[in-house]
Amino acid sequence: MHAPLHWPSGLALLVAAAAWPSTATAQDPLQARNLAATCANCHGTNGQARGDMKPLAGMSAEKMFAQVADFKSGAQPATVMHQIAKGYTDEQLKLIAGFFAVQQVKP
Ligand code: HEC
Repeated sequence: MHAPLHWPSGLALLVAAAAWPSTATAQDPLQARNLAATCANCHGTNGQARGDMKPLAGMSAEKMFAQVADFKSGAQPATVMHQIAKGYTDEQLKLIAGFFAVQQVKP
């Protein structure tokens, strides 16, 4: 029983991402990026849109926060985003929105 556990790296990342928000502080410069990474599954790496998903990269932070806050409150009906938005505090959502706002939109 000396063999180390070899988790698939994707799973380890997922666990790390899930554990991060509760331990990070607002002062941590990596926090926004780590929080935003959880959006990449659906919205693409760094918010670059994939397929018919809308890009988050380059969207103004105010606009994105307003949209996600509306999902969270239920003011904007959604298929999944209302559930996702509820997983974050408003402070975390502002960090995430700020992160995507400064991402370059790639052609
Ligand atoms: C499980 C897939 C999934 C994940 C993860 C996800 N989203 Fe979404 N997002 C969607 C879908 C689907 C929509 C379209 C609205 C709906 O039906 O929920 C959407 C819509 C949005 C919109 C509105 C875009 C527009 O122009 O109308 C924003 C902003 C957004 N998501 C932000 C985020 C942020 C920020 C995160 C990470 C905290 C995130 N999403 C994580 C699937 C996802």
